[in-house]
Amino acid sequence: MTEYLTSSPEETEAVGEKLARAIAERPFAFVALYGELGVGKTAFVRGFCRVFGIDRVKSPTFTVVNEYRGTKNVFHMDLYRLKDEADLLSVGFDDYLGRRGYLLTEWSEKIPAAIPDDAIRVTLSRTDGDAGRRIAVAGCPELS
Ligand SMILES: Nc1ncnc2c1ncn2[C@@H]1O[C@H](COP(=O)(O)OP(=O)(O)O)[C@@H](O)[C@H]1O
Ligand SMILES: [Mg+2]
Repeated sequence: MTEYLTSSPEETEAVGEKLARAIAERPFAFVALYGELGVGKTAFVRGFCRVFGIDRVKSPTFTVVNEYRGTKNVFHMDLYRLKDEADLLSVGFDDYLGRRGYLLTEWSEKIPAAIPDDAIRVTLSRTDGDAGRRIAVAGCPELS
């Protein structure tokens, strides 16, 4: 497990970039994001995507999944409004698992059974003040 402390959205984006650089040689990765509303999950994904030349990252709250094409494909999902694995199937989750690229899921705590055992787990939480965040990254040997 590797831990980072940030005190601005830009610093959280930079941690996302760091993870992206660390795994950029992998053809596939599943990155499960955990943490409450407004903690910085989308900011982290924004930084991650920038490494692959993707600069239009928006929250998939209403779309459930955003597909971005850069030097790698990134599939950005929000599990918040889904309730079970049947809902996941209906949004094509299994297809995304089989495609080359990186699948990042916000609100991974909503459907724990959907998260593969070998996923990289990124847990964000609040620390000091309005802008303090702790980011714990587990399951990524390249970072440690
Ligand atoms: N250290 C920080 N890291 C990330 N976001 C921060 C930080 N400090 C303040 N913020 C603010 O918190 C919010 C994070 O929003 P967002 O990334 O959409 O969160 P989430 O996707 O977890 O709901 C933004 O308004 C951002 O400006
Ligand atoms: Mg979000």
